Amino acid sequence: MYINFWYPVALSSEVTAEKPLRVKLLCLPFVAFRDAAGQAHVLTDTCVHRGGSLGLGKIHGNAVACPYHGWQFGGDGRCVKIPSLAAEPKLPARAKVDSYPVQEKYGIVFAFLGDLPEEERPPLYDIEEFGTPEWKAQTFVLDLNAYYERSIENGLDPIHNEFVHQAQGQPSLSPEQQRVPLPIEQIPWGSKHYMTFGGSKDENTALSSVKTGPRVGAAGSWHQGPNQLVTYIDLTATNSFHQYMFEAPIDEAHTKVYLVSMRNWLLQDMHDARMAEVTMRVVNEDMVVVQNLNPVRTPDSNTKELLVPGDTAIAAYREWLKKWDAKGWKIDVKALNARLGDYAITIPSPARRTSDNWVTETVPLVPGA
Ligand code: FES
Ligand SMILES: [Fe+2]
Repeated sequence: MYINFWYPVALSSEVTAEKPLRVKLLCLPFVAFRDAAGQAHVLTDTCVHRGGSLGLGKIHGNAVACPYHGWQFGGDGRCVKIPSLAAEPKLPARAKVDSYPVQEKYGIVFAFLGDLPEEERPPLYDIEEFGTPEWKAQTFVLDLNAYYERSIENGLDPIHNEFVHQAQGQPSLSPEQQRVPLPIEQIPWGSKHYMTFGGSKDENTALSSVKTGPRVGAAGSWHQGPNQLVTYIDLTATNSFHQYMFEAPIDEAHTKVYLVSMRNWLLQDMHDARMAEVTMRVVNEDMVVVQNLNPVRTPDSNTKELLVPGDTAIAAYREWLKKWDAKGWKIDVKALNARLGDYAITIPSPARRTSDNWVTETVPLVPGA
């Protein structure tokens, strides 16, 4: 688990100006709410007075009020009111909580959980076709009882299809393709493979009867950052699925996956239910496997598993994880768990680079290279 990436916090529809929303991410509590202008905010969920959960409080105009003694915090995390102090006092400098940069896209509220200045932040994935008339989106929120890195690795894995998704006619690699390392392309913040699948079976599959256009049978996946995954399945020249997974690690055994599934065929609403059914069938097949992997977390060393050439994309992902380890962005979850319960802890926000005097301590990180 890493700081300094964009994480999905909630669906846009869940973040309101009526009631704050409590969310757990990276083992820690956050609160999301909307101000009077409709702007979404994501703050640390811990009141610096005596530890109340802001997410259980109320929204007053542009601020969220702690349910315990009514301290109010604006979207920037600054305390704007302490009811027990005199009217309009100079509020203590330490009366603030961390506030995180927010982007709202694809019907999802994302927060940048880290302290990097804007120009240094890894990007939120840009879905170019989102909102265009040629493409239709369906969004699914999945509660996965697994570590997010295992889920990303599953998405990058081209050699499980013929075993896990036998019935779905998913493209599969030919034996010849599986015996050589996958061609991997390095992209900004990630690695990618995309190829024509030699072993696809086109007969008697859930969607084969409604395909149009010349067959392509190509597919590929890539990750951008540790928690954003893209899968292209190009069945024919005109029938594609583009699936985007934005994964929110809740803790080391639970992940919320926001899946934006896009298609450029059968665009009418009448096909949504069937498309959703096919998508969820595939997702559920993956979940059964991924939720039962041992160990739960991706091993630190590839010697603890026996990788084959078809696992090249997995190895490439793990190389990227090492780069982010080297930057010192990896959360030391064991050290964190040893402190939780005795201390309120949060992810450092960008404001910590320019102001000090913070009450809440920041998450322990594994020292970088
Ligand atoms: S604990 Fe939040 S106002 Fe007292
Ligand atoms: Fe799968």
